[in-house]
Parts: sequence; structure tokens; C-alpha cells
Amino acid sequence: MSRRATGTATAPVSGPLTVAAASASPGLPTTDDALEPALRGGLEVVEARLREAVASTDALADSASRHLVEAGGKRVRPMLTLLGAHLGDADDPRVVEAAVVVELTHLASLYHDDVMDSAPTRRGAPAAHQVWGNNVAILTGDLLFARASNLVADLGPEAVRIQAATFERLCLGQLHETVGPRPDEDPVAHYLGVLSDKTASLIATAGRFGAMFGGCDPATVDVLVRYGEDVGVAFQLADDVLDLTSEVGESGKRPGTDLREGVPTLPVLLARRAAAEGDAAARAVVGLLDSGRLDDDGVLAEAVALLRAHPVTAAARDTARQWARRAQRTLAPLPGSAAARALVTYAGSVADRVG
Ligand code: IPE
Ligand code: IPE
Ligand code: MG
Ligand code: MG
Repeated sequence: MSRRATGTATAPVSGPLTVAAASASPGLPTTDDALEPALRGGLEVVEARLREAVASTDALADSASRHLVEAGGKRVRPMLTLLGAHLGDADDPRVVEAAVVVELTHLASLYHDDVMDSAPTRRGAPAAHQVWGNNVAILTGDLLFARASNLVADLGPEAVRIQAATFERLCLGQLHETVGPRPDEDPVAHYLGVLSDKTASLIATAGRFGAMFGGCDPATVDVLVRYGEDVGVAFQLADDVLDLTSEVGESGKRPGTDLREGVPTLPVLLARRAAAEGDAAARAVVGLLDSGRLDDDGVLAEAVALLRAHPVTAAARDTARQWARRAQRTLAPLPGSAAARALVTYAGSVADRVG
């Protein structure tokens, strides 16, 4: 969000849980004979429920809500809910509903985020505010939050409270990103807090709901929470790097959007620190970032290219890998299972994802 308004990490995992050598099939972090089709089938059910959940008898609300669902998306959060549930009993019908709740919450936040970031594209489609204007985009996000609230009510008061606390953290993360650090706060520490709140909170809730409704014991649910908090920070750090390194069309978003909007992503914060320490290449980047000329596509492309080539971008990716390895280590107490191995594999791919 704006201030202006596959490689594999291979950290050894102690305990009985080890990573299978086989590489995962495209999109899913498992090749297990039983888990892979179960996961695929589960995601299909989630997809159908998602479409039902956004449908509206109001024609405008219906098309604006369906816009981003139908544009695609990776469905990472539902996948983590299903994987969490596969640590227990994934057949409980509340698992799919919980997966729909987290994806709806994510979806709603995207409608709002694209308004705040003046983002032109999302999931390879025009952002909703480009099609219908800011007011309709904001109201569509609100409507989707309402649908998520309705569904989570059927999952009981504990789930409602978790959902509310998650949503609050998501909003606070966006708010703190917008206002920036206090003068006495370290900008990098502040930013990592922002990532935990705006992104990792919901990713952690995704796995937590899966384990909860899959009937796992509290210790396993807690492992999933801690895993999600760490893998979620890695996920957002990778997203920040992708703003610089992805090709147009690869992520479905326009590269350079964070730079243009003045979002203080980790590469930018590290470049500012390096510039202050006298690094000439970093000074050139910062000069462009502060030039007030990033509305010019050529200047923006130059800033993206310079920052991408500077070692701070590789350092940011490396920080993502460190968070992902920490996520893998939290899984160590789990008994070996295909789902646990898939969680390890997913964390191993998240820092180097390309979309
Ligand atoms: C916002 O982060 C994450 C949300 C909580 C919606 P970004 O602004 O980096 O997300 P993208 O890059 O637009 O998807
Ligand atoms: C985008 O999330 C917003 C962030 C938190 C970075 P995703 O990268 O999961 O977006 P979709 O759902 O695949 O479009
Ligand atoms: Mg954004
Ligand atoms: Mg981003």
C-alpha cells in the first residue's frame, strides 16, 4: 500500500519431519499420491463456494465482486487452510468454509489496496477502480468483507474473534505503512512490523483455521500460527522484490507500482541506508526516487532497473529466505506426514516465487 495516500530454501529440519526430494507439481507444494489430488479437489470445491459467496442479485455488485475472483489469483491462503486441515481431518465441512472466509477477506483487501496504491492492474485484469471508479471499488471491498463475516458466523464465536483480530491487524498494517515510522523508530523494524500485520496475519489465520477445523490439538494449531506469521513475512518480502524484478504480465500487476507510490519496501529502505553511508549507486537510485519524476514511465523504468541491479534487492530476497527458513523450523515438532512436508516445501519456494 502507498505512502502517498524457484529456488528452494534448504534449511535442515530437525525431528521426524523431512522434505521429500521430489519437486512439487506446478502450483502445489506436493507430489504425494494421496495429498496432491485431495488438495486439488479441495481447491476446486473452494473455488465453487467462492463464486457462490460473491454472487449478488444486484447487477453492479455482482459484476464488480466477480471481477477479481474470475481474474484468477494463486489461492495461496485457501491452500494453506487445506494443508493445515490435512494435519488432521480435512473432510470436516467447516474447512472449506474457513478457506472461503480467508480468500474473501484477502480479496476484499485487494479492492481497497488497489485504490490506495492507484494500481492499474490486478491479476492481469484492470483494477476494479479503473473499471468502476474508486467509490464502487471501495464499496465492493466492503461488501466482500460483509460476505466473509456472514460465513465466519457459522464457524462459531472463536473463529469470528480470530477473523476480527486478523482484519484489525491487516488494517493497522496498511495504516502504519501509510503513516511511516515515528522519528525514534528504526524504519526497517517498523516495516517488518507492517508486513507482519498487513500480510502475515491473514496467512497465519489461514493455516490456523485449517488446523482448528481439522480437529488438530492446540499445540499443532499453534505451530501453524507461528509458521504462517513467518512464511507470511517471507511472502510479502518476495512480493516487494517482485515489484522490481517481475516482467510485465508475470505477476498480473504493474512492476514499479510500489516505487511510483512511494511505498518504503525493504529494497528502498536498504538503498536509503546505503545512500546515507555514501554508496554512489544507492545515491543514484535515491536521487531518482526523490526526483518527483516517477510519473514519467521512462524515469520509473530507470529507477526500477537501477534498484533491481543494486545488491540491496538481492539482500531483500535473502531476508525473505531467512524468514522462510524460520517458518520451516517451526514445523519441526510435527510428526512426519505428507501435509507437513508440503508446508516445508511451500516455505522453501516462497522467497523465490515469480508470481
Ligand atoms: C498489500 O501489499 C497487501 C494487502 C494487505 C492487501 P501490496 O500493496 O504490496 O500488495 P500488492 O503488491 O498490491 O498485491
Ligand atoms: C497480493 O497477494 C497481496 C499481498 C499480500 C502481497 P497474492 O500474491 O496472494 O495475490 P493473489 O491472490 O495471488 O492475486
Ligand atoms: Mg498494492
Ligand atoms: Mg506489492
